[in-house]
Formats: sequence, C-alpha cells, structure tokens
Amino acid sequence: MTAQQWPRRGLDQAAAADGRARAWESAYCRFETPQQEVRKFQRRLKWFGAAGWSRELRVIELFCGRGNGLAAWESLGFSHIEGVDRSPRLLSEYRGNAMCSVADCREIPVASSSRDVAAIHGGLHHLERLPQDLEDVVGEVRRILKPGGRLLIVEPWQTPFLALVHECCRRRVVRKLWRKLDALAEMTELEASTYFSWLAQPEVVLESIHRAFEPVRMRIAFGKLFLLAQPR
Ligand SMILES: C[S@@+](CC[C@H](N)C(=O)[O-])C[C@H]1O[C@@H](n2cnc3c(N)ncnc32)[C@H](O)[C@@H]1O
Repeated sequence: MTAQQWPRRGLDQAAAADGRARAWESAYCRFETPQQEVRKFQRRLKWFGAAGWSRELRVIELFCGRGNGLAAWESLGFSHIEGVDRSPRLLSEYRGNAMCSVADCREIPVASSSRDVAAIHGGLHHLERLPQDLEDVVGEVRRILKPGGRLLIVEPWQTPFLALVHECCRRRVVRKLWRKLDALAEMTELEASTYFSWLAQPEVVLESIHRAFEPVRMRIAFGKLFLLAQPR
C-alpha cells in the first residue's frame, strides 16, 4: 500500500461507519413515534416507582438518543434532568428543557457524587467490548451518583418472547406487513455485532453491574431486563 492510500482507506472506513450510523438512526426513528416512545418510558418509570420520588432529584438519562426518555421524566414533573448521547443528530431532535451533552457514556462529563438518578434505556447493548466497556460505564455511573442514588436499566434480554421476535424478523413477508417489525429487524441487523454479543453474555453483564450496584428490583419479561439498583 502506498503512503497516499493510507488516509484514503481511513476516510472510506469513517464514511462507511457514518453511513451505518445514519441507517441505524433512521430505522430507530421509524420503530416508534415520539409519542409512543414517551408513553413507553412513562410506563417504565412508573414500574420503577419514579412517580413516588421527590421531584427535586437530579436525573441524568444516559444513551438518551432523541430524548423521549427525558420527555417522560418531564411529564412526571421532574425538572432537574439532563441527557447524554454520542449522536449529535439524535440529540438535535430533542425539543424539551433538559440540558443535553454529546459525549461517550464511558466518560460521563459530570462531577463525581452529583446526581441522584441515572437512567439507561437500550444503550448498554451498543457497547462494543464486553465486559470492558460495560465496566467503564458502570464505573462512571457509580462515580457520578450520590450515596443512596439510583440506577435504572432497561435492556434487551434473551427470553422465549425475544426468540419469537427474532424468528419473525427473519420472515420477509412478516416484515413487509408489519412496519414496526421491519424497523426493528433493520436496527438489529445494523447493530448485530454488539446486540448478539450482549444477549449471549447475561452472566457477564449481571456480574459487571452487580459488582458496583446492589439490585433493589429486577424483572425479566418480554425480551427485556428491568433493573433498579443502588451503589454498593
Ligand atoms: C437504542 S438507542 C436508545 C436511545 C434511547 N435511550 C431510547 O431508548 O430510545 C441507543 C443510543 O445509544 C447511543 N450510544 C451508543 N453508544 C454510546 C456511547 N458509548 N456513549 C453515548 N451514547 C451511545 C446511540 O447514539 C443511541 O442514541
């Protein structure tokens, strides 16, 4: 390879990665409308018990995407909220009052022991290296939470229901008839390397989280892990 080919190759790889990220973001935005997402997050927050918590709590939503999780916190009356995501394109779609930062959640740009609640919906299964990246994120969450703070996690989890969903995703005709499933199948294809690696390592995942956090409430149902935990 000549000296001129090196930077060209790097540029091509970066363009391909950006193309994949754009395709994934477009499928993610087709999967649910913002209104559907807000209702989903509201139901989750109620399950975690957030409706009964002080509205003075400082909440940080990590991997917040286009910010509909933030909108759900706002709808429950929380006003000290902020979001972090690495995608400026998705963050630019958020229309609420929370402060948002473009950052990698393996290095959260906030002070230690400064937040009461950290919420993660569907971000951890995007981490490339398990368990290292997960341990970095968990360590960062542990660092930024005050003593007695709370961590909320909702992530995909291998269950018979999820296996059925994957089976449907493999059927072209089902995808053609069901737009939401088609969007999910496209997202899954584009994030396959991290998604399936995440699903294949439930013990590794739980061990990494439980080392730093004590579970308070946990539920596995319909292809999802729901976990409420407190710093050890
Ligand atoms: C499935 S989306 C979830 C978005 C939102 N929480 C939701 O449930 O709709 C995953 C998000 O994680 C973000 N992301 C992936 N890796 C990240 C990282 N290391 N740091 C920050 N954000 C990341 C992506 O940009 C994307 O917005």
